[in-house]
Amino acid sequence: MQIIVTRTFAGASDYVAEIIADLVLSKPTAKLGLATGSTPERVYDKLADMHFKGLDFSRVSTVNLDEYCGVTGDNPVSYRYYMNEKLFSHINVKPENIYVPSGINNPEEELELFSYKIYNGKIDLQLLGIGPNGHVGFNEPGDKLHRAAHITKLTQSTIDANARFFNDKSEVPTEAITMGMGDILSAASIVLLASGASKADAVKALLMDDYITTQVPATFIKMHAAATVVIDYELANMIGYKVKG
Ligand code: PGA
Repeated sequence: MQIIVTRTFAGASDYVAEIIADLVLSKPTAKLGLATGSTPERVYDKLADMHFKGLDFSRVSTVNLDEYCGVTGDNPVSYRYYMNEKLFSHINVKPENIYVPSGINNPEEELELFSYKIYNGKIDLQLLGIGPNGHVGFNEPGDKLHRAAHITKLTQSTIDANARFFNDKSEVPTEAITMGMGDILSAASIVLLASGASKADAVKALLMDDYITTQVPATFIKMHAAATVVIDYELANMIGYKVKG
């Protein structure tokens, strides 16, 4: 695993945007696996800015990690809405090259379509955040993890963490559709971005020991041959990670 520590979170986000831009420049037909949440917001701002300055996404395709169940894409809390607002409406990716799983369609059919979208051409780069409980996508901690795309119940920790996007905690959906761990690990490269005290325990488990555990799903990323974790100095300091060199 490559570990990058930047001075600030803005710097970490810019670094990740540069990785994505370099990929799109070197491979204009790149397939990007995308994430939502607060973490990648500045990455998407940067990519929008790079597009404004000429970066071409017209042959890029995208597939998103997850979506809430029971929420339509025009609902501002949906991940589809987030993606439209934060990225898709600001770059020239073609609508037909975008896939965000739907949380309202027939689950069986949607999971089949989701798997097709993941494996119909390898994902070149999967962008990830990390939950305070160590989830990636909505692969929640537990005795077992799923390999493939599935519908899952959100843990209380995730419901609590995501409540800030809703008027009331009771409005947070309790189920989601998500890529499985095998799907995430099938990407040619993975870039995980993290910052903030709430992520310290999960990022510590990822970076500071050698264990892989279903109780911290992000630790499975240790097995990926081309994974990069980008954190800021503050988080590195919190977990006792010493920058080498
Ligand atoms: P966040 O969520 O970026 O909003 O912190 C990350 C995640 O839960 O994966």
